[in-house]
Amino acid sequence: MSRIAYVNGRYLPHRDASVHVEDRGYQFADGVYEVCEVLGGRLVDERRHLDRLDRSLRELFIASPMSRAALSAVLREVVRRNHVRNGMVYLQVSRGVARRDHAFPAPDTAPSIVVTARRTDREAQEALARKGVAVITVPENRWPRVDIKSVSLLPNVLAKQLAKEAGAREAWFVDDDGYVTEGASTNAWIVTAGRTIVTRPADSGILRGITRTVAFEVAADLGYTIEERPFTVAEAHAADEAFISAATTVIMPVVMIDGSPVGSGVPGPVAKALRLKFHDFSEVA
Ligand code: PDD
Repeated sequence: MSRIAYVNGRYLPHRDASVHVEDRGYQFADGVYEVCEVLGGRLVDERRHLDRLDRSLRELFIASPMSRAALSAVLREVVRRNHVRNGMVYLQVSRGVARRDHAFPAPDTAPSIVVTARRTDREAQEALARKGVAVITVPENRWPRVDIKSVSLLPNVLAKQLAKEAGAREAWFVDDDGYVTEGASTNAWIVTAGRTIVTRPADSGILRGITRTVAFEVAADLGYTIEERPFTVAEAHAADEAFISAATTVIMPVVMIDGSPVGSGVPGPVAKALRLKFHDFSEVA
């Protein structure tokens, strides 16, 4: 069955779907993106993802490519045309196509938009969650505006590759003061003695993950205390549990950091409970 992608107003066979060589997303990574989980053919937390998209666009002075209602319809159509039941939908907006020149193009330059969808193997994901994943730590070397979900992801790409080469699933960035910021494509959490959940505040240094926001609600309902504060790598090593969160992994237990086991080296009860309850709290529509 052939995959379909949406590119600037057209639904195209995935293999033929492309953007112009002078697209600023391609030339300068001058664009933003979102990834939404798809569950049973429906979108998970679309409203929050599109709110964050609007914010990213505003922060970079990129115009909205279309109304929210139109964008929502395109997301659903791409999911439908690709017959995705469980998976993800990806959307990217760039500042558009213009002769290569660093400063912004003419104000009437239309932003470019691409939407793709793909399936994920839910059983494989669940199997991974039962085992837990390994992370490595790497020095933070990203720009300070990581609150913007920009497609400019070179440090994340390099960190993820290092993780892969080390047999790990994720790399946690560590700032100059020894505090974990976040993963290359996930937010980072630990659970200390007494079942207190610790995660870095989202006012600087990290992306305010949608999964993170919803996880706060799940944790509150389960009666867990959350401390929003930075934590060090040493604290993570000494923690009872660790986990990561993102639309692509939901809540995923971390059982190894830089080759040393976290807690008892198996997924802990807090991460498991958050994962189990997550979709009771996300908006699925
Ligand atoms: N990544 N931090 C970073 C750097 C991310 O790239 C992501 C998401 C998150 C988690 O955000 P959310 O819970 O809204 O997915 C945190 C996406 C999934 C990606 O790049 O594929």
